[in-house]
Amino acid sequence: MATAKQEELLKKKELLKQGGGEKAIARQHSLGKQTARERLAKLFDEGSFIETGLFVKHRCTNFGMEKKEAPGDGVVTGYGTVDGRLVYAAAQDFTVIGGSLGYEHAMKIAAAQEAALKVGAPMICINDSGGARIQEGVDALAGYGRIFYNNTMASGVIPQISVIMGPCAGGAVYSPALTDFIFMVQGTGEMYITGPAVIKAVTGEEVTSDALGGAMTHNSVSGCAQFACSSEDDCIAEIKRLLSFLPSNNMEKAPVVACTDDLNREDENLNSFVPENPNKAYDMFEIIRSLADNGDYMEYQPYFAKNIITCFIRLNGKSVGVIASQPKFMAGVLDINASDKASRFIRTCDAFNIPLLTLEDVPGFLPGTSQEHGGIIRHGAKMLFAYSEASVPKVTLITRKAYGGAYIGMCSKHLGADIVYAWPDAEIAVMGAEGAANIIFSKEIKAAENPAEKRKEKIAEYQDAMMNPYVAASRGFVDDVIMPSESRKYIIAAFESLEGKRTDKPMKKHGNIPL
Ligand code: HXC
Repeated sequence: MATAKQEELLKKKELLKQGGGEKAIARQHSLGKQTARERLAKLFDEGSFIETGLFVKHRCTNFGMEKKEAPGDGVVTGYGTVDGRLVYAAAQDFTVIGGSLGYEHAMKIAAAQEAALKVGAPMICINDSGGARIQEGVDALAGYGRIFYNNTMASGVIPQISVIMGPCAGGAVYSPALTDFIFMVQGTGEMYITGPAVIKAVTGEEVTSDALGGAMTHNSVSGCAQFACSSEDDCIAEIKRLLSFLPSNNMEKAPVVACTDDLNREDENLNSFVPENPNKAYDMFEIIRSLADNGDYMEYQPYFAKNIITCFIRLNGKSVGVIASQPKFMAGVLDINASDKASRFIRTCDAFNIPLLTLEDVPGFLPGTSQEHGGIIRHGAKMLFAYSEASVPKVTLITRKAYGGAYIGMCSKHLGADIVYAWPDAEIAVMGAEGAANIIFSKEIKAAENPAEKRKEKIAEYQDAMMNPYVAASRGFVDDVIMPSESRKYIIAAFESLEGKRTDKPMKKHGNIPL
């Protein structure tokens, strides 16, 4: 039997948990969105979520705010378990003053971030908000500043995941941007610095909010988000899947899953899979599926810079980050976006002790003024930096082309790859045979009685001498040339041998990656 004070407590809690109330909840549902509490209930293991800061109240007295109730100050924060592992979360409650962020709202998020950092657990923030609470002015801005600072301090220590399930406008976008992973829900998730109305007023340009900053825009065009989900439930399932590949913090390794696949499984199909003609495309995913435990992978940024694939797989039950050329898109060339995508992924994996497997079939960096003027030099340099700096085990497999600077950039021995394998059809060279012969034999070709014949002859000569894996293997730049069918066995053995890898780095405050 509860005492009067206990009854009062339960009543208060009950009321606060209703957020903005029935009408606002009905509106939230009519917009195709769930409430903050409904989302958290699905994210966390049943009954495990412990709420913090339920009684927090705003202290704003501007513009009649002193009369405005804001349960939980518009954000639900706390911790619980996801698939049995500790996770912290904050979910903005759009039913309370549009989920707008005031000072106390921000301090609740900051407290969750600080607790997650202190104990080394992932932090998930679900965004659904009208942005800075306009009535609070600079107090709201101070709150954002603290969140950004905490995002930065936690970067590389705990995985930080942002989930965009509604509006995320103005400077608010910079918290997600500072985190490791951004999930967006199609149709409801939006991110922009200035919305369509401001754009129309300032530049006259007309654009819908979805085209401006919807899930597909940020997943396929801007590259600001990594995952696009068709529904909130799908999104929550994908977040859980991602967490399964990640450790809880930078001092741990990702959880190991019991491997049910044969470690020595051979795949005869791979022996005839890559076309001999270097100009013919193939789908690198076939190779990834063949190598991975049970053919399973989770792609990172699947819609952006499709010429490079980034994904998580498991080998012998352990998480591995894969960076792979995709000959099916733009011949797998490295351009600005591919460099950015790969570099970010490499650094994310390295920060969280996830070994790197590079699958390489790369014709080079993309030529052209748009790339040069867009800064391919500095963007491409990010890859060299990220690979060189990464201290996790690094294994590279060259399936076909490995030309020029891109050969170096795709984790060659010279950038610190621990083990490099090549298939017999690999061509490790400065450039393709045709381009090479045209340059170094140009005088001979021009002077020949039949220049076309001579060119053919010289291309063949260069091809025979240089376009193979054996020159690199003779120098020790390639550890072995292997039968494609045996790749899984060799790669798993390589990573197993590197389990205890330790490296030393020169003392420094931090490196200066070209941004
Ligand atoms: C205070 C806000 C608010 C805000 C929404 N509300 N945004 N209150 N500050 N930023 C309130 C509304 O007044 C309304 O209150 C309730 O939340 C629901 O909002 P609606 O407009 O009715 O909802 P909807 O039609 O779905 O539109 C949602 C919206 C719109 C698109 C988010 O509310 C909107 O444009 N809001 C302003 C967005 C914005 O410009 N924010 C500031 C960005 S600048 P009632 O009482 O009527 O229910 C920024 C700077 C941060 O964030 C800088 C950090 C460095």
